[in-house]
Amino acid sequence: MFARAARPTMALARGLSTGAPSRAKVAVLGASGGIGQPLSLLLKNSPLVSQLSLYDIAHTPGVAADLGHIETRARVTGHMGPDQLHAALQGCDVVVIPAGVPRKPGMTRDDLFNTNATIVAVLADACARSCPEAMICVIANPVNSTVPILSEVLKSHGVYNPSRVFGVTTLDIVRANAFVAELKGLDPARVNVPVVGGHAGKTIIPLISQCTPKVDFPADQLEALTGRIQEAGTEVVKAKAGAGSATLSMAYAGARFAFSVLDAMNGKEGVVECAYVRSEETDCKYFSTPLLLGKGGIEKNLGLGKLSAFEEKLVADAMAELKGSIKKGEEFAANMK
Ligand SMILES: NC(=O)c1ccc[n+]([C@@H]2O[C@H](COP(=O)([O-])OP(=O)(O)OC[C@H]3O[C@@H](n4cnc5c(N)ncnc54)[C@H](O)[C@@H]3O)[C@@H](O)[C@H]2O)c1
Repeated sequence: MFARAARPTMALARGLSTGAPSRAKVAVLGASGGIGQPLSLLLKNSPLVSQLSLYDIAHTPGVAADLGHIETRARVTGHMGPDQLHAALQGCDVVVIPAGVPRKPGMTRDDLFNTNATIVAVLADACARSCPEAMICVIANPVNSTVPILSEVLKSHGVYNPSRVFGVTTLDIVRANAFVAELKGLDPARVNVPVVGGHAGKTIIPLISQCTPKVDFPADQLEALTGRIQEAGTEVVKAKAGAGSATLSMAYAGARFAFSVLDAMNGKEGVVECAYVRSEETDCKYFSTPLLLGKGGIEKNLGLGKLSAFEEKLVADAMAELKGSIKKGEEFAANMK
C-alpha cells in the first residue's frame, strides 16, 4: 500500500536526481526567467530527461548554449519566439510552464491575472496543437485561475485530459516541510506535510495533523505556522524588494514535481504528490490534494483524508475565494473564443 504522505524524490534533497534513465522530452516554457533558468539546470542534471527543450520570448539561445555544455546526457535545444514554439513542443512528454510576470511588493497573485492569463492561454493553445498527450505542469500565477484557463483551452481543442493537467503547488509543501523541521529540530528531508486547496493566501491549507512524522503544536503556534506557510511567498517578495518572487526554491519545487511525474511515467510505484487539479473531492471544481501518480498522470486522487477541526475551518474559509478564482479563469477562456 502506498503512503499518502510518502516523500517522493529524496534524491533531489541531496542535490541530484537519480532514477532509471528514460527517453523523455521535457519542455520549459519561460526558460529564460528567474525560475526557468535554475529549473532547466536541475532538469539538465537528471537522467530522467533525454531532451530538454527551452522556450521563451527572449534569451533562449544563450541559456541553451550555456546549459548545453554540461556533461549530462539530456540534449538541449533553445527556441525563441512564437515561430519556434511548435518545434519546442513537438513530441514532448512533459511541459513545465513558468512563463509570466512575478509579483512585486504589495501585489497579490491575482494582480498578475491580466498579463499571465493571456500568456498561459497562448501556450495552452500551442500545447493542444503540438503535444496534446503531454503532462502539463503550470507554475505561472495565479495558479488558482491559470489551471482552469489551460483546461478550458485544451477542452476547446477536444484534447483535455484532466489526469494530465497540474497546477504546481509543490513549493507550499516544500516550505511547510522546511518550517516544521526547523521548529521541531527534524531532518527536513524526512518531513512531509500535505498541503491542499489552492495556491494563494488562505487557499493554501497545510494539513499539519497529517504530517509525517507526527508533530504537535499548541494552538497559537499552529496558527502562526499555518499563517507563515500561507504567506511564505509574500515573505520572499518583500525580502527581494521589487526584484521578483521565489525563483530558486520554486525551481527546486518544480523539478521535484517534474521528476515525480517522470518517475511515475516510467512505472515507479507509490509516487504521491499534491497538485491543484480537476477534482471531485470538494464542491470546488479544482482543488489540490495528494495524488497517486502513474503512467498516465493522476492514477488516483487520495483525497483530503481526516482533517482536524482547525483544518476543516481552513477548507471552509478558502472555498469562496477559490471558486471565484476558478470562475474568473473560466470566464476569461470563454471570452477568448
Ligand atoms: N506556482 C508557484 O508556486 C510559483 C512560485 C513562484 C513564482 N510563480 C510564478 O511563476 C511565474 C514566473 O516567475 P519568474 O520569477 O520566473 O518570472 P521572470 O519574469 O523572471 O520570468 C518569466 C519568463 O517568462 C518569459 N515569458 C513572458 N511571456 C512569455 C510568453 N508569452 N511565452 C514564453 N515565455 C514568456 C519571460 O521572457 C521571462 O523569461 C510568475 O507568474 C510567478 O508568479 C509561481
